[in-house]
Amino acid sequence: MPKKVFFSLKYPHLAIDMLEQAGFDLTINQSNNPIPQEELINICKDYNALLSTGSNKIDAHFLESCQHLDIISQFAVGYDNIDVKAAKEYGIAIGNAPGAMTEATADVAFGLMIMVSRKMTHMHKTIEKGQWKHFIPTANLGFELDGKTLGVFGLGTIGMVMAKRCKAAYGMDILYHNRSRNQGAEDTLNAQYVSFDELLAQSDVISVHCNLTEQTKGLFNKDAFEKMKNSAIFINTARGGVHNEHDLIEALKSGTIWGAGLDVTNPEPMQANNPLLHMENVAVLPHIGSSTVEARNEMARMSAQNIIDFYKIGKIPYPVT
Ligand code: 8YV
Repeated sequence: MPKKVFFSLKYPHLAIDMLEQAGFDLTINQSNNPIPQEELINICKDYNALLSTGSNKIDAHFLESCQHLDIISQFAVGYDNIDVKAAKEYGIAIGNAPGAMTEATADVAFGLMIMVSRKMTHMHKTIEKGQWKHFIPTANLGFELDGKTLGVFGLGTIGMVMAKRCKAAYGMDILYHNRSRNQGAEDTLNAQYVSFDELLAQSDVISVHCNLTEQTKGLFNKDAFEKMKNSAIFINTARGGVHNEHDLIEALKSGTIWGAGLDVTNPEPMQANNPLLHMENVAVLPHIGSSTVEARNEMARMSAQNIIDFYKIGKIPYPVT
């Protein structure tokens, strides 16, 4: 009997091709809408494996109800939607797609930094509103990034590529704060390890690239924003849960920090009436970090390979441990 795999969304065709060629029996949610948890639990009763993503709540309740699943393969690098400890207890293997969207996400962080430093989103909107009248020498001034200091919070693979881009393009000095030292970054980019408070105080741009964990949840709050420079930009392309959105709005309104660029919000999706969308020095994107053909195909390849190898050789190439 072929193993039955359920796709919680329409993942790229490469994943379908790989699994079909390997002899799996696939069913795909064709709707483009995430399936509510209870419905997904019911569906999964008939399957051996699930290809999931960030919008699927794979918590203790889900896992208890679906403990018959052999493997959950996550179409993402982040897995904060999955209770990994509970999955382990039920003997369900978890895989993900690390590294698939490194360049794509670093590009979004880099792009947001430039957009915010030159108020690009706001300036675009003024034209739409018919407000492009005449040249005003002292209006709409942004600031230049050349020689400024980038502070990376979470210098893993994506943070490293963001740092490389900033160093190469603007000769920026690189500071970072991490759970552990990144010797490669210190050697190749002259990156300097600093405490969290030093990172806040010394950076002109802070870019968040950490995982969402109990330790990082809400870490960028009123306290943290108050320690940043009034001229600083806050960039988050990791998870919206790392910043406190209310505190961020207040920090921007009061001029405690200068600007913000977000590809992730808290909650997601952001509502159209969110005050952040109407601020001059803010750019918000709808979580498009991995939205390139290259990244999505690589995510498809990795998440399909996890399922194939689990059944064929009993070992996952990209395990979450
Ligand atoms: C996804 C992401 O778009 O990989 C991740 O962790 O955040 C993005 O690539 C999103 O999580 C959908 O699963």
